Amino acid sequence: MPTTPLPHRIQSFQEYREVYARSVADPEGFWAEQARTFRWHTGWGRVLDWNFEEPRVRWFEGATLNITENCLDRHLDERGDQTAILFEPNEPDDPVVKLTYRELHAEVGRVGNALRELGVGKGDRVCFYMPMVVELAVSVLACARIGAIHSVVFAGFSAQALADRVNDADCSLIICSDYNRRGSKNIPVKAVVDDALALGCPSVRNVLVHRNTGEEIAWNKGTDVWYHERVEGQSSSCAAEVMGAEDVLFILYTSGSTGKPKGVVHTCGGYMVYTAFSFLNVFQYQPGDVYWCTADIGWITGHSYILYGPLLCGATTVMFEGVPTYPDAGRFWQVCAKHHVNQFYTAPTAIRALMARGHKFVEGHDLSDLKVLGSVGEPINEEAWEWYHDYVGQGRVPIVDTWWQTETGGMMISGLGGLSPQKATFAGYPLPGIQMALVDKESGQELTGNPESGLLCVKFPWPSILRTTWCDHERCRTTYFTTVPGMYFTGDGARRDAEGMYRIVGRVDDVINVSGHRMGTAEVENAINEHGQVVESAVVGYPHAIKGQGIYAYVIVADGVPADDRLREEIVAMVRQEIGPIAKPDKIQFVAELPKTRSGKIMRRILRKVASGETEQLGDTSTLLNPEAVEQVIAGVV
Ligand code: PRX
Repeated sequence: MPTTPLPHRIQSFQEYREVYARSVADPEGFWAEQARTFRWHTGWGRVLDWNFEEPRVRWFEGATLNITENCLDRHLDERGDQTAILFEPNEPDDPVVKLTYRELHAEVGRVGNALRELGVGKGDRVCFYMPMVVELAVSVLACARIGAIHSVVFAGFSAQALADRVNDADCSLIICSDYNRRGSKNIPVKAVVDDALALGCPSVRNVLVHRNTGEEIAWNKGTDVWYHERVEGQSSSCAAEVMGAEDVLFILYTSGSTGKPKGVVHTCGGYMVYTAFSFLNVFQYQPGDVYWCTADIGWITGHSYILYGPLLCGATTVMFEGVPTYPDAGRFWQVCAKHHVNQFYTAPTAIRALMARGHKFVEGHDLSDLKVLGSVGEPINEEAWEWYHDYVGQGRVPIVDTWWQTETGGMMISGLGGLSPQKATFAGYPLPGIQMALVDKESGQELTGNPESGLLCVKFPWPSILRTTWCDHERCRTTYFTTVPGMYFTGDGARRDAEGMYRIVGRVDDVINVSGHRMGTAEVENAINEHGQVVESAVVGYPHAIKGQGIYAYVIVADGVPADDRLREEIVAMVRQEIGPIAKPDKIQFVAELPKTRSGKIMRRILRKVASGETEQLGDTSTLLNPEAVEQVIAGVV
C-alpha cells in the first residue's frame, strides 16, 4: 500500500537549525517542497508573489486543489479504517463516537450534497453557530468540499454579535443546533439564532438545524430546515469543487483595538500547507497517535488544530463536547487516560483553573501515553507551566508553548515537541519559514541583537498569513502593515533572550486576553455605552489569577442616577446582550471623571495601572487635562 506523503518532519534540534536556515535562504523552494506532498489538480506558476505595502500575498497562485481531498480522499487507501474524529461527549457515560476516515469522507459527501441542494455553492458564505458536536466538524468540511466559505461563530456569542457577523459576510445559510450541552446545563442555541434573525439578517435564506438534545424549539416554517431530514438519503459521493490556491477557505471574526470585530480571511492552498507542516512538527505527530486539542472550533485553534492540520496529516483527532470541570476537575485527565491520548493541547486558563482545584484530580489517571503537552492562547505563567509539567507531564513530557494568532493561521513560535530546549514562560524559537523581528517602539528600527525586547513583527510572508479582512482591505492594511512599514505587526510585545528564544509579554494595543479569548476594549466600551444611563466608559485589563486578564470597567453615569449594584447588574446584562457572557466586566468602578490628555484622549496607561493596583508608579500625570481625576479614580478602586 502506498504511503500518503506528508510534509517534512524534523527529527532533532540540530536538524531544526538546518531546516530553518534553508527556509529563510530559499523560502519558495522550501515551501514548494512541502506543498508538493499534497494532492493538487493543477500546479502553480509562481510559488510566491508578495508585498507588505498593499498588502498582497499570494502563495501557489494558479494551482488548484480542494483541501478536503487532502484531508480525506487521499488517506482512504492507507488509513480508511483508522479513526479520524474521536468524539468524547459531555456526559462521561454517554457513547463515544468514532468516525473513520472512510466514514467521515462519506458523511462530508452527504452533507456537501445536502448543502448544494439548499442552493449553496462556491463562494457563498455559511455561518455556523454550534456546539462541539461531530456534525459541526462534518459540515464545516462539507462547506470546504463544495467551495462555500465557512464563518464559524463561537456559540457563546450573543444574538447581536451573531447578527453582526452574519451581516458582515452576507451569509445565506446558518447551521446551528437546537441546544448545546455544557456540563450540567443545556444551553439554547437555536433560540439565539432566532433572536439574531429578528434583529435583521436579510441575506439568510435558511437555517439548517441539527437535532442535538431534542428539546423543544420554535420553528420558522419559511426558513428552518432539519439537518437530518436533508442529509438522510443523500449520496455519499460528492465531487469536490476545484478551488484556486488563493480562493477563500474561511472567514473567522476576531477582535481588534478599534471598531467591530473583523473577518480574518484565509485561503485554501497556503493554509493547507502551513497547518499540516506546523501540526506535524510541533506535536511530532507519528502515525497511530491520538491527538487532543481542547479548543472550540469557534476559534482559530479549533480550525487549524482540531480539524485541518490533524486531518491533513491523517491523525486521529479528539473532539470534546464538554467542559474541563464536569463532572469534576479530573475530566481532562480521565479522557486522556480513556483514549490513550499522546498529544494534548490546551490553554493556560484551563490549566490554572484545574491547578486551583488541586493535583488530587490528576492523580489516579494513567497519563503514561502522553508524549507532548501544548499550551496556546495567552502567556503561560511560571506556576501554571510547572504544574502542567510536574503533575500532568509527570516531569517527563515536553511542553510546547505555541504562540500564534487568528491572523497567522498556524503556530509561529514554539518548541518542537521533545526536540527543542524548553524554558518555562518562553514560547521558544520561530518555526521554519517564520522570520520574526523585534522592533523598537520609538524609532521603528529592527532590534537585531540578543537579548532585546520590542514590538513583535514578522518580516516575510508565510503560507497561512491572513490575506485580507473581509470586504475591508484597507482595515487589514492599517491594522497590521502600517505600524512598522514593510512588516506584519502582531499587536504583541516580546523579549528575546541571549539564545534567541522568544518570550511573549502580551498585547501592546487595546486588546485584552480574557481566558485566552481576545477582546477589544473598545468593543466592550461600546456595549456598556449602550446603557441609557451611561455617559462614558473606559475598559482595561488587569491581572486575574485564573483568567489571565480580567475586564475592569470605569463608568461615568448620568447626573442623578444612583451608581449602585442594580446599575452594575444592568451594565453586565447589557454587555451579555451585545457581545456575550465572555465579555462581561469582572469589576465596575463608577467614576465622576476619566483622566484625559489635553487633546481629550483617555489615559488608559494610568487606568491600567490603577486597576492592577500599581498606583505607586503612575509616572508623570502633571500634563493631564484633569490630574485630580487620577486621585478620585485611585480612591474609588474596586
Ligand atoms: O497576545 C497573543 C495571545 O493571543 C493573541 C492571539 O489571539 P487569537 O487570535 O484569539 O488566537 C489565539 C490562539 C492562537 C496573540 O496576539 N497568545 C496566543 N498564544 C500565545 C499568546 N500569548 C502568549 N503565549 C502564547 N503561546
